[in-house]
Amino acid sequence: MAVITFANAKGGAGKTTAALILSTELARQGNRVVVLDADPQRWITSWSEVSGRVANLEVISHVTPASLPCHIRELKGEADFIVIDLAGAKDAIVALALGLSDHVLIPVQGCAMDARGAVQILELIRHIGEKARVRINHSVVLTRVNSLVTTRALQTIKALLASRGVSVLDTPIVERVAYREIFECGGTLQMMDPNRVSNLDKARENAYALAAEVQNLLPVTARRALMSRLRSALPRAA
Ligand SMILES: Nc1ncnc2c1ncn2[C@@H]1O[C@H](COP(=O)(O)OP(=O)(O)OP(=O)(O)O)[C@@H](O)[C@H]1O
Ligand SMILES: [Mg+2]
Repeated sequence: MAVITFANAKGGAGKTTAALILSTELARQGNRVVVLDADPQRWITSWSEVSGRVANLEVISHVTPASLPCHIRELKGEADFIVIDLAGAKDAIVALALGLSDHVLIPVQGCAMDARGAVQILELIRHIGEKARVRINHSVVLTRVNSLVTTRALQTIKALLASRGVSVLDTPIVERVAYREIFECGGTLQMMDPNRVSNLDKARENAYALAAEVQNLLPVTARRALMSRLRSALPRAA
């Protein structure tokens, strides 16, 4: 099981969209996915209510700092992926989720490159890592990237961030109508009508590439430190 958290202290960076696109794609591929919805706006919970049952995908709402470690512990044998969607904040549940993650994905809008919220999360990751003496794996994922932006331009951004020690996913999340519609219509990208939603095939390909890259990032031993991390988050747990 791997825990993947989407975090950016700035609101509207694209966390929830990225979390849902990744989760539905991982579930489509047959992985058992549980989304822990820790965003007070509960967008993924609303999506799930509109969608009804989606194979391999469960959404747990009202996740709190107290319940988060319990959920992860209980899901250990049942889920292949736990995806945590957080509020655009830098509070207790954000810090806890970062510490319990196998990989933190930090969405940054590719067009604006307003990276202040991302920098706050990067600092928090460093702080928690130093305090707990663990390495919290993390990457920036560029979101809402205009489909006309060239690979060369993205490589330039990537190189810039890499020179500051920040790794960036090769796969940007492109600005797509389908990624907005999914919240309104419910269901998955596969359930949408290509005659009604423009560039749906490209949106699906993008989701596939994102899930493939994220799965490659995760260490084979993703559950390596899970128990020790849970023990420190839940001091009285067995
Ligand atoms: N790749 C995308 N393509 C099209 N629209 C997008 C994309 N990513 C995000 N959006 C839109 O941008 C807005 C903000 O995205 P989202 O809700 O995912 O951000 P967030 O970081 O979860 O925000 P918050 O901090 O409020 O929880 C939404 O209207 C969403 O539909
Ligand atoms: Mg959100």
